[in-house]
Amino acid sequence: MAGRIPQNFIDDLIAQTDIVDVIDSRVKLKKQGKDHRASCPFHNGNNKSSFSVSTEKQFYHCFNCGASGNVLTFIMEYDGVEFVDAIDILAEQLSIEVPREENNNATSSPTQTIDRKDLYQIMADITHFYQQQLRQHINSEKVINYLKGRGLSGKTAQHFKIGYAPDGWDEVRKRFATSPEQEKKLIDIGMLISKSTEGAGSYDRFRDRLMFPIYDRRGRVVGFGGRVFDNSEPKYLNSPETPLFHKGKELYGLYHVKQAYKDIPRILVVEGYMDVVALAQFGVDYAVASLGTATTADHIHTLFRHSSEIICCFDGDKAGRTAAWRALENALPYLQDGRTLRFMFLEEGEDPDSFIQKKGKQHFETLVKEALPFSDFLFQHLLTQVDMSNRDSKAKLAQLAIPLISQMSESVFKEMMEERLITLLGIEKSALIKLMPKASTLSAPKQSKKVTPMRLAISLVLQHPNIAYDLPLFPEFKEIKLPGLSLLDQLLDICRTAPHINTGQLLEYWRDKPESRQLKQLAVWNNQVDEGKYEDVFLDILENFLTLHIDQKIEQLKMKSRKGETLTSTEILQLATLLAR
Ligand code: CTP
Ligand code: MN
Repeated sequence: MAGRIPQNFIDDLIAQTDIVDVIDSRVKLKKQGKDHRASCPFHNGNNKSSFSVSTEKQFYHCFNCGASGNVLTFIMEYDGVEFVDAIDILAEQLSIEVPREENNNATSSPTQTIDRKDLYQIMADITHFYQQQLRQHINSEKVINYLKGRGLSGKTAQHFKIGYAPDGWDEVRKRFATSPEQEKKLIDIGMLISKSTEGAGSYDRFRDRLMFPIYDRRGRVVGFGGRVFDNSEPKYLNSPETPLFHKGKELYGLYHVKQAYKDIPRILVVEGYMDVVALAQFGVDYAVASLGTATTADHIHTLFRHSSEIICCFDGDKAGRTAAWRALENALPYLQDGRTLRFMFLEEGEDPDSFIQKKGKQHFETLVKEALPFSDFLFQHLLTQVDMSNRDSKAKLAQLAIPLISQMSESVFKEMMEERLITLLGIEKSALIKLMPKASTLSAPKQSKKVTPMRLAISLVLQHPNIAYDLPLFPEFKEIKLPGLSLLDQLLDICRTAPHINTGQLLEYWRDKPESRQLKQLAVWNNQVDEGKYEDVFLDILENFLTLHIDQKIEQLKMKSRKGETLTSTEILQLATLLAR
């Protein structure tokens, strides 16, 4: 099995890439002075230039929401991919292979050593196998009749690569588990289930089901949903969480929507696989489904990155309303001017699949157009919970509405919601402002930081790593007790040997470490040091640390002698030298 990606490869990869190009291809940047600016893709704000990308530092940062990182962080956040995928994406652009370390260490954790390329390939092969079975298996007629009965054409089945998992305990196993290693991989990606007793082998997870492959945003199959043909339970069986598949993150159909549009005007969120597939067949090719879970904040975040208009479609029954309300709550922090969120409810007993089959595209899209604006749904829902005829219920309405509205970022939209609440409550705006909690800490990161020598020193190395190149070693640093010094020392160690290292590369060494957050802040902190003074200020601080070391040492020796312990001759000599300095 392949080992880890070598750190120096990651280092080189960042060095060979220009973060400005990578970001500019996704978010249009404008040059402003030394930096590039844009409106931040990671939060809701009106500020067109809070997001800054530095060529020199190879680092981005938003002054409003505090999002920051190097080119890999950006790809992970923006494309919604994992670290290893971000590396793949960059390497692919440069047409270079991602190397893996030789893995001789048997104890290293398995998740670090999984060769994901291989796993994706297996998923692709199984998808193909299921597709073949749809036509070739002896049950083929039953399956095709089922599809026909549900009004799905062969073309639609093709388009979504719908297949058939044959009836049997080892159909996948006997074809794909050709070695113990392969078997282990198949278990890891959820296609086989290992038997409870150790060493007893494994069996197929999906048997006699209609198979819907689930694609990630890059078009790779990462999991399956399998439907039964009769009324047995569970109706749908989904892949478990695996290294490839994270239910709360993926959206069924999103890849196909992305394929269909260059700019996606709107995305419709529905509940089921069948809904997405049937809608697409009828020409509503902009629907996605959450996979048997509620619409999560992650989903909303992803959706708004792809389109500025989201319409959530639910059943008109109680369960549908509850699910819609949950989606609304999750969406609040992502709402901003220019983004629309609406809700549509179908009559009880109908889902988008049954509706469009009966009434057709035009009728369905009329309902899409008439979907309820999010603010209407919000107030409608709250008003069902209070009886507005007495004073107490106004207080209750305020109690319910304020925490919701205050989650929205500052926008004309939010102001309109506040106006509406004021009208409903019959109070003055000033009275409402008193009730609103102060600006959330999330959207207002603290800009001012107390200047300490340590912060200053660390920010200087991070922002101008070249000042540490050529620096002598300071063995004393290992002995001085000072918060942050060992971190500074590690930074110096890296910079000493790397002549042109940039901020983005430097920070990569701390990815996923607890110090990462603070380092990222210091990397963009305005430390008020004038250009041209960096090196002087930096060396001054280091000298101070060394003096501190001498003082600490002298104090230590004096203390020892004061306590009546005799100093060794070496120590006496040391004390004399130190005092002389
Ligand atoms: N679901 C699931 N597991 C189940 C039942 C449902 O994951 N045991 C998810 C599936 O994504 C399904 C969605 O919830 O598509 C909606 O469920 P339901 O309304 O029961 O199914 P339909 O999509 O209407 O499926 P069908 O039309 O095939 O009956
Ligand atoms: Mn249905």
